Amino acid sequence: MNYEKFNIAPGGCLQGRIRVPGDKSISHRSIMLGSLAEGITHVSGFLEGDDSLATLRAFRAMGVNIEGPEGGKVVIHGVGMHGLKSPAAALDLGNSGTSMRLMSGLLAGQGFEVEMVGDASLSKRPMRRVTEPLSQMGAVIETTEKGTPPLRVMAGAQLKAIDYTLPMASAQVKSSILLAGLYADGVTSVTEPAPTRDHTERMLNGFGYPVERKGSTASLSGGGRLVATDIDVPADISSAAFFMVGATIAPGSDVVLEHVGVNPTRTGVIEILRLMGGDLELLNERLVGGEPVADIRVRSSKLKGIRIPEALVPLAIDEFPALFIAAACAEGETILTGAEELRVKESDRIQAMADGLTLMGVDARPTADGIVIRGGTMNGAVIESHDDHRIAMAFAMAALRSSSPVSVNECANVRTSFPGFVELAVKAGLMISI
Ligand code: S3P
Repeated sequence: MNYEKFNIAPGGCLQGRIRVPGDKSISHRSIMLGSLAEGITHVSGFLEGDDSLATLRAFRAMGVNIEGPEGGKVVIHGVGMHGLKSPAAALDLGNSGTSMRLMSGLLAGQGFEVEMVGDASLSKRPMRRVTEPLSQMGAVIETTEKGTPPLRVMAGAQLKAIDYTLPMASAQVKSSILLAGLYADGVTSVTEPAPTRDHTERMLNGFGYPVERKGSTASLSGGGRLVATDIDVPADISSAAFFMVGATIAPGSDVVLEHVGVNPTRTGVIEILRLMGGDLELLNERLVGGEPVADIRVRSSKLKGIRIPEALVPLAIDEFPALFIAAACAEGETILTGAEELRVKESDRIQAMADGLTLMGVDARPTADGIVIRGGTMNGAVIESHDDHRIAMAFAMAALRSSSPVSVNECANVRTSFPGFVELAVKAGLMISI
């Protein structure tokens, strides 16, 4: 339980140029691959949030010399593929599912036993989605009876490659298997049912480790090496999404979100907002260290409800809390299907959002794999975030269109992905205080 609470006065609009913190997915991977590389990796734009810091501390605990972060700069003295050391204690990964799932694969091929633990939310999240394929590769990983953390990864398994078809569209599972594949005999292949974020594949290539992509299958050969490189982490589109939605729904808004990662496996939020009538313009598109980046200008506009194309769901998987607020401000019904994964994020995001929207007087009906939201007026309310950073930030933005103040309980976890959210939101025009 945490007691940090957001209080937001109703109304206002968002203005100005904003740079949100670094991409969480890319920050995690920079520490993991930089640690296993030969040589020194310089990272800039690193997300100094609790989740990526948990990964950083875990690799430090396994003997990697990591300097920083200081002003987003991190220097990683890579130890090579076989240089990690047994940590003195269990690795505490806090709220971070990405750390635990990716590290399960990466640690499965090491010569030491390691335990990974997490906070109350992470301790409820499903891990069999990674432990099952990893055990097919020869890894031995213990979970609780329910398949949840803590995880104990046993020492010294000789991994063999697999050819695995993911049962769900999950970049975390794909990445976990590919990272185990680095240590496996033979060619490991992962086929995904729909495209998911490809930062692992891109970054492995950036570290000189070839990953082949054929259609929906990514493959790599075990036994290679990583060579240190420099990484410029773009701003996180998942954090920018709150400002995209805020600026879209609040009349008179006009913001430019700077240096945002617009990897096509992450831009579902832009496409969905545009389908709803949003006014988003990509400026100054460029490639930064293998990742596409742009400045995004967002102006307020009138939205209409849509049926969200299922193909866009994995490309916007973390942005639905914010998108549901957009749907609540749209004319007509927005229908989401094919998004059952939202029920096993940091909270059950379908239920948490439906409950909060209902309290605000919005017609929001949850379904097994999505939600139906009929746009209308929003009253102020006291909202439960369920300790989920994205639920908290989504409802903070809802106040831009509510008729009376909004309060959100349990907001401390906002710092897992977006340290400085309140300060930046105030600068942009949101009337928020803690
Ligand atoms: C992530 C993948 C997504 C996302 C998470 C970060 C990653 O999870 O929700 O916040 O960095 O690979 P799934 O791939 O399990 O959907």
